[in-house]
Amino acid sequence: MTVCNSFGETIINTSFISLGNLTPDTFLQQYWQKKPLLVRNALPGFNGLLSHKELIQLSGNDEVQSRLVIQKDAQWLLKHGPLSPRDFPNSTENTWALLVQDVNHWLPSANNLLLKFGFIPYARMDDLMVSYAPAGGGIGPHYDSYDVFLLQGPGRRYWEVAANYDSQLVTSAPIKILQQFKAEQSWILEPGDMLYLPPNYAHHGIAVDACMTYSIGFRAPSHQELIDQYLMYLQDHLETDGRYCDPDLKHQGHPWEIHRNMLQQTRQILKKIKWNAADVENFLGIYLTEPKAHVFFNRPKRPLSFDAFNSAIHKENFRLSLKSRMLTGRKQIFLNGESYPVTPAIKKALCTFAYHQDNSSSNKLNDESRKILYQWYVNGFIETTS
Ligand code: SIN
Ligand code: CO
Repeated sequence: MTVCNSFGETIINTSFISLGNLTPDTFLQQYWQKKPLLVRNALPGFNGLLSHKELIQLSGNDEVQSRLVIQKDAQWLLKHGPLSPRDFPNSTENTWALLVQDVNHWLPSANNLLLKFGFIPYARMDDLMVSYAPAGGGIGPHYDSYDVFLLQGPGRRYWEVAANYDSQLVTSAPIKILQQFKAEQSWILEPGDMLYLPPNYAHHGIAVDACMTYSIGFRAPSHQELIDQYLMYLQDHLETDGRYCDPDLKHQGHPWEIHRNMLQQTRQILKKIKWNAADVENFLGIYLTEPKAHVFFNRPKRPLSFDAFNSAIHKENFRLSLKSRMLTGRKQIFLNGESYPVTPAIKKALCTFAYHQDNSSSNKLNDESRKILYQWYVNGFIETTS
């Protein structure tokens, strides 16, 4: 099965991850956002995509979001990356766990792993987080606000979960840890096994051996966040003329009072704030593809000219940068917080180019598509793989 790739990898015959005997449709109907699902051998032979040493090395990069959680007796400590080898405890008295976000920005194979979850819309996807913990390590019992698939890499992890729990947190801890947690179900996950958890399901993972876990996380903005962001969007996109005026102003008895005429006029002015479905779509595309704060794109230092770029795309392998987020609307392509109005033909051509990473598709690009692609190239949104 060929899967559309919003990140621009060559995806040939990529199949979805196994959901046991469930089809994606059945999974969505019966489990998604509802109840946990354990899938044994979801990815047979899965042994991880990078070693724990490489993960530690990645956590030292200042463009990478990482956290080191150390448990010392009953005390929890949190260190944010970039981390240096000195940050990691060497004594066996302490247990710890290292968590690295957005590993898909750095490894094409991690990006390919995300695509195996393409039965969920890309607009809902967040990132691939990889964790490492020595035996006994973990980040304590907690709940997350997001759906997550926990895919076991090398080593084993013991998972306990509960639907019902007291949500009081340990106040002294720098991370969210439940004061009380009583498991309702538990399993030991072996490499390639996977556990799906809906939002707000309490869980506690303890490394049985030194182990790595791959968390495929989803995003679901709060209503407050969506409204705040939409108001900001409107601020940037609404333009109006006119100015408050009162040629028929009357002398009022209490000059300190806001007069009802002023209120009335202001209400009329505010009625000029209008939007339609197209505005909401444009906002969503821009908002959902906005790069995270720590993400930077590398613009080419000496960019090719437009003509040189045009001949290079036939010869070289270009792909969307792994850090790129791309979505499409009815009449737009959204890439990294920018909206590109496109005709259906240009949308198709650019999607084919970006999703299938098929060099032959560059022959089918018309001038308009090439101009957009060139703009992406100059912005550092696409890169060569060779
Ligand atoms: C982990 O991988 O250590 C924790 C993942 C989670 O609890 O969400
Ligand atoms: Co969690």
